Amino acid sequence: MFEKKYVGICGSLRKNSRNMGMLRCASEVMPEGSVLEIVDITSMPLYREDMPKPDSVKFLADKVREADGLVLAVAEYNYSYAPAIKNALDWLSKEKDSLLAGKTCAMMGAAGGMGSSRAQYHLRQCCVYLDLRVLNKPEVFANAFSPAFEARGGVAETEEGRALREQIRGLMQALSERT
Ligand SMILES: Cc1cc2nc3c(=O)[nH]c(=O)nc-3n(C[C@H](O)[C@H](O)[C@H](O)COP(=O)(O)O)c2cc1C
Repeated sequence: MFEKKYVGICGSLRKNSRNMGMLRCASEVMPEGSVLEIVDITSMPLYREDMPKPDSVKFLADKVREADGLVLAVAEYNYSYAPAIKNALDWLSKEKDSLLAGKTCAMMGAAGGMGSSRAQYHLRQCCVYLDLRVLNKPEVFANAFSPAFEARGGVAETEEGRALREQIRGLMQALSERT
């Protein structure tokens, strides 16, 4: 039985996503007594107010409602977050019980040379309005094109990959200490 439960959401929908690889890595290095469940948002439609709530949104909302916090893997597209993650947050923000308000949230990401830092800082701004409590430290900005990653997106068993794994472990430890 796990004492603390977290939900992981990935901003990249592609098969060999490095960001999804980071989430999988996070699920492997959770502190004892904590578990991270990754929820697939690939089939979630774009938010539309006049659309009945899709099953994919109901599923994610139920998971988030019973979770102690969120882990967001933030891919960077054109100097900002990839839209899938914002879309998921937009859907969740319309839940009647304000389920995001006050939730603790850890953020990390992989992109080009700046490691998705620009995307993460943009997303932090949205999190202010959503009243998510995003951890400020440690920051995890990974280079998606470095040997830290395998071709299929997983965190590699290389020197760079092991260093990244330790950064992710530190972030998950901080998350668990804050919830
Ligand atoms: C439409 C698009 C725009 C991108 N823009 C940026 C960018 O502004 N900065 C950056 O560092 N990487 C950018 N990239 C590269 C992605 O960050 C990189 O492909 C990364 O691996 C994507 O994450 P994923 O592996 O989880 O899919 C872009 C990729 C795409 C497809």
